[in-house]
Amino acid sequence: MSDLYEKLTQYSKIDWYPFHMPGHKRRIKDGINPYLYDITEIDGFDNLHEPEEIIKEEMKVAMQFYQSDATYFLVNGSTCGLLSAICALTSKGEKILVARNCHKSVYHAIFLNELQPIYIYPEYIDEFGINGGISPEVMRDILDRNRDIHVVIITSPTYEGVVSDIKTIADIVHERGAVLIVDEAHGAHFGMHEIFPVSALRYGADVVIQSVHKTLPSLTQTALLHIKGDRANLKEVERYLHIYQTSSPSYVLLSSITRCIKMAQESMGNGLFDKYAARLKNFYKQSENFNNIQIIQDNIKGKNSVHHFDMSKIVISVKNSNLTAKSVYQRLRNHYHLQLEMCAGDYMIAMTSFIDTDEGFERLYKALEEIDESINDMKHNNFDKDMFWHNDEKKFCKKNIGKESGIEDNTIFRMPQAIVLKKTSDAIGLHTKMVELKDAKGRMSAEYIYLYPPGIPVVAPGEMITGEVIELIKNYRRAGLDIHGTEVENAQYITIADVYSPLSCR
Ligand SMILES: Cc1ncc(COP(=O)(O)O)c(C=O)c1O
Repeated sequence: MSDLYEKLTQYSKIDWYPFHMPGHKRRIKDGINPYLYDITEIDGFDNLHEPEEIIKEEMKVAMQFYQSDATYFLVNGSTCGLLSAICALTSKGEKILVARNCHKSVYHAIFLNELQPIYIYPEYIDEFGINGGISPEVMRDILDRNRDIHVVIITSPTYEGVVSDIKTIADIVHERGAVLIVDEAHGAHFGMHEIFPVSALRYGADVVIQSVHKTLPSLTQTALLHIKGDRANLKEVERYLHIYQTSSPSYVLLSSITRCIKMAQESMGNGLFDKYAARLKNFYKQSENFNNIQIIQDNIKGKNSVHHFDMSKIVISVKNSNLTAKSVYQRLRNHYHLQLEMCAGDYMIAMTSFIDTDEGFERLYKALEEIDESINDMKHNNFDKDMFWHNDEKKFCKKNIGKESGIEDNTIFRMPQAIVLKKTSDAIGLHTKMVELKDAKGRMSAEYIYLYPPGIPVVAPGEMITGEVIELIKNYRRAGLDIHGTEVENAQYITIADVYSPLSCR
């Protein structure tokens, strides 16, 4: 078997097109040999943890570009930015208002600082089976009922590109004396062209965290933490960045952030972003012709608390077809050599950046057009959701795993309401045992269960495994999706806290 290095070498030579992160799309060809640039904090190259020279200067450039009041380079991804911001701005054990569709790193910060989360749920867009935005009115109501909340964290944009009304939310949060952290991991390109939304930094968020590696041409793991105004305690944030960032930050990664910002700046001026915007507009326009596949357009704005939509995310919905997202995702991969970022119940995401090519967009469009046409043909043959793409036979085939595995057209992938029995920090460390999923109802979970990507927990340790949670896990399985976080693969068994919980004796 080839080792990882050999496997990557082989992969770099074949024609697979990356509609996934990182945003450089493996197309930056300036001949860099990473070994030549890989140094430690030697004289003349400054120190990320105590920047005084070149790194300080470069962070200033980033600060000016993003119009923040302070910007920090992150080499452990947005993950370490979120951990640092949350731990720095909350006191141990206190309440925090959290959008339930936050990334797992937010849940890990909740665990680390032993926080008591109060959840706000995004609205749900039934038509496409994706989460909408966070309602400012619901946020106001929760904050009014919980005057002891000092920190609010939401994700905007979501993985699917949904942007919430940050300005109104920031006003509400600030009126109540709290601080707003926005996980803008998927929005480092915001504001770089008029077709994209504007960053939360411009709308009053106090701390904004962006993964430059996701939507811009920077190496994996690179991210930024921005602070605006004086509500967030800068010194505390720095203290936690020292804890959660490695003491040996890679200069290859650091220089990729600075190069990426320069490239973005130049591309805004030299027309590359205009070309990218034109490519996207053309793709969205053409795809209006599909009969079965739907590409989510920015007309989802204005409903379900969707304030803005990021067109860089091509969200492909198969909700109105007889196919699962997984089968189309596999077909795109195996037949057309198009690797998408992720697939969930009813939709998949193709991530784009200004480094993409006309050829890439053309290949995606043509592939979807063919699949859309083939769905028309299948409709005449009673095709159903038990079908999968058979790579050898080059056609959709029927799964031989029984009726029970079929997913219905009206299958719901909405996130369940959490019933918190114990704080995660109190639940982790309790005696545990494993039970079959069917026997887990009413018990307290001792593990996180989630799809990855996007890494949003369906249930967290300390929460009750409700009937809704079990149904959702079953629906994920029927849709052929891999479930992560559980000790036993694909949540066949669930690790529960071996204690009495309210429904366990029913
Ligand atoms: C919404 C969101 N926030 C945070 C993260 C973590 O980002 P990173 O991979 O840069 O640590 C992710 C990762 O996918 C994400 O989707």
